[in-house]
Amino acid sequence: MTTSEIDFFSLKSAAEQACLLAYAPYSHFPVGSAVVNTSGQVISACNVENASFGLTMCAERSALAAAVAAGLEELTAILIFTPGPQAHSPCGACRQVMQELMNPDARVISCCDSEDIKKWTVDSILPDPFVTIKSPGG
Ligand code: THU
Repeated sequence: MTTSEIDFFSLKSAAEQACLLAYAPYSHFPVGSAVVNTSGQVISACNVENASFGLTMCAERSALAAAVAAGLEELTAILIFTPGPQAHSPCGACRQVMQELMNPDARVISCCDSEDIKKWTVDSILPDPFVTIKSPGG
């Protein structure tokens, strides 16, 4: 097993565990996400819905906010886990937040219960993003 495979499996496991905690009584679409930094520290989170639908927090943005609050910098990858046979792509809002907080070459991986997997870099998943400052992600 290579180092990157070990990283992948631990990140997937963290996202899968977080997914079990998803609060998704409206969509019934649980999502887990995990981010990792250059030191190998992992932070995970899930989606949290609300009766006022627009207040829903996606799993990816929850994980990125938790990583910032925990003082993690140099985030190298974010993984999204959705149960079922199909890997899902992150929404546009989450792509914008990834762009602000992660390096352009950081990895974005989406996986599920099957072998289906999607992979991007932050740069490739949101070309020509909206920016006004030089962000911590570079
Ligand atoms: N959701 C995420 O957690 N991440 C995404 O990238 C897209 C959507 C959540 C929001 C909502 O709780 C549910 O999935 C259905 O849209």
